[in-house]
Amino acid sequence: MKNYQTIILANQEIAPGYWRMRILAPGFAAAAQPGQFVMFRPEQALPTMLRRPFGIFRTGCLPPECAGLPPREYMELLYKVVGQGTRVMSELHAGDRVELLGPLGRGFTIADNACAKLLVGGGIGLVPLFLLAEALIRRGHPVRLLMGGRTRDDILAVTEFERLGVETYVSTDDGSLGEEGLVTRVLERKLAKYPCAEVYACGPMPMLTAVEQICSARQVPLQVSLEAHMACGVGACLGCVVKGVGHSEQQPNYLCTCKEGPVFAADQLDWGRLDVRCEE
Ligand code: FES
Repeated sequence: MKNYQTIILANQEIAPGYWRMRILAPGFAAAAQPGQFVMFRPEQALPTMLRRPFGIFRTGCLPPECAGLPPREYMELLYKVVGQGTRVMSELHAGDRVELLGPLGRGFTIADNACAKLLVGGGIGLVPLFLLAEALIRRGHPVRLLMGGRTRDDILAVTEFERLGVETYVSTDDGSLGEEGLVTRVLERKLAKYPCAEVYACGPMPMLTAVEQICSARQVPLQVSLEAHMACGVGACLGCVVKGVGHSEQQPNYLCTCKEGPVFAADQLDWGRLDVRCEE
C-alpha cells in the first residue's frame, strides 16, 4: 500500500453518467491485484470531503515522455455520478492533482483448475472484473463474462473484455442491448451448460443475493466483491463491517469490508443479514 499525490492523465464521460479516469500511478501496475481498491480524493477538495473507495478497473504503462525516462504507469477508475462526491470528480481535468491510497483490501482468489470461470457484473459492478479477466487469461483459463444492466447505457467496456479474448453475454432489463431480462437468467443457463464452474460476481445487492442463491443451490463456488460505504479503507473506523456467517449477539462475527474484503467467498457471509451500506 502506498500514499500517492499524483495527477490525472484523463477524465472522460464514456456513457451517460459514467466516467473513466486515468491517473498516473508509478509502481501501481505490478502491485494491484484483481479486486483491490483505492481511496481517492482530489487535492483541492473541501476539507470536509473524505477519501472515497473506488475499485481498480485497469492498470497499464504509457511510453516514457522522453528517451531515458521510465515508462509511465497508470491506473484507471470507472465511476458513476451518483452524488456530490462523484460529481466533483467528473469536473476534474488532466493535470489536476489527486491523493490516492492503495492498492487496498483483499482481492479475488484464483484456483487453477479445469472448472469454467464465469464472471457476473451488474452495471458499474464490472469494475473489478477486468483485472480478474486479465489474470485468468494470463493463466490459461477461458473466461466468460455475463454482463447485465437496466439499459444499454449501463453496459460498459464490453469490447475491451472481448479484446482480451473474453466471451461476453449481455442482458438488459429493457432489452435495449443484448438479451432482454436479468443477468441471473443467463447465469442459470450457463451453469446448466458448465456444471463444473466457479463464479465471480460484483454488482448491486439484489443481483448478488440472487447469484448467491443460484450458486449455493448448485454447490458452485462463488466469490463476491461487495460495494460498501468506507470512511478510512484501512480497518480503523469499523464503518464498513458486514455480518459474517454464524453471527449472533452472543458470538459476533463482523467482517471488515475494507480489510477482509471487498472480495469474500460467499460462504463467509450471512446473506440473510448483510445490510451493506453503499457509497452515494
Ligand atoms: Fe474504516 Fe473499513 S472503512 S474500517
